[in-house]
Amino acid sequence: MKRGMALAVGTLLGVAAMAGHARADGDAARGAKQYRACVACHSLEPGSHLSGPSLAGLWGRKAAQADGFIRYSKGLRAAELVWDENTLNAWLADPEALIPGTFMVFRGIKDDQARSDLIAFLALAMAPGGGDAVVSQGLVPRDYVRGQKPDPVRLAPTDTVVTRIRHCRDSYFIATADGTETPYWEMNVRFKVDTRDTGPEPGHPVVLRAGMAGDRVSIVFANIQELTQFISEAC
Ligand code: HEC
Repeated sequence: MKRGMALAVGTLLGVAAMAGHARADGDAARGAKQYRACVACHSLEPGSHLSGPSLAGLWGRKAAQADGFIRYSKGLRAAELVWDENTLNAWLADPEALIPGTFMVFRGIKDDQARSDLIAFLALAMAPGGGDAVVSQGLVPRDYVRGQKPDPVRLAPTDTVVTRIRHCRDSYFIATADGTETPYWEMNVRFKVDTRDTGPEPGHPVVLRAGMAGDRVSIVFANIQELTQFISEAC
């Protein structure tokens, strides 16, 4: 009997410990530093989605509802979660444990205090207008709000504006608006489409050097049609 009681109490304590402590002890200024781990994939600007959805205005809202973000996992869409201290505490401790099969590739923050601090920051940052608020309060630089949004590619110099791409044997020959044609090994060329309004002008794909060696490039098109318009097999 006694042993059974002790076990039951132990289990309850264990569950309470797993759920973590109230976030009242979180420090938003320290949490702002933790937020650095999120900026590669999230912005705090409304509607600006990166690899992950914009977090602007999500505090107190149902999960997987950010306007215009179409890459949510099935699990998160079905979860019926509302983002608050408790749900964020579980999510940030271990996203995969809360939503198996989630697309958020993040191994979680194991330290309770670090998580509390981050959540105290998120309570401000994920409130409506939170992106501007956390900058004006000096908690994070403007860069953190923007997230790692790729740089705009408009107004490119002529040696980066692509006029034609021909593929021959194991190579791409990339012609640019300055009249030159440069060969690249086919495995060193990546094709991307950037449909954002800061992407390349339609009809003017751009070539961007990628990597230090200078033998790798990315070609960025304004839309999918341009892939067939600009690239052909020709020796
Ligand atoms: C490697 C990219 C990546 C990193 C790093 C990352 N996230 Fe995410 N996050 C995502 C993706 C992708 C989703 C969508 C997950 C899904 O649909 O399963 C997401 C979803 C979310 C959501 C739910 C959004 C919604 O619309 O319901 C929150 C909240 C969130 N992340 C917070 C964070 C925080 C805070 C951090 C930093 C501690 C972080 N994320 C780090 C990619 C990332």
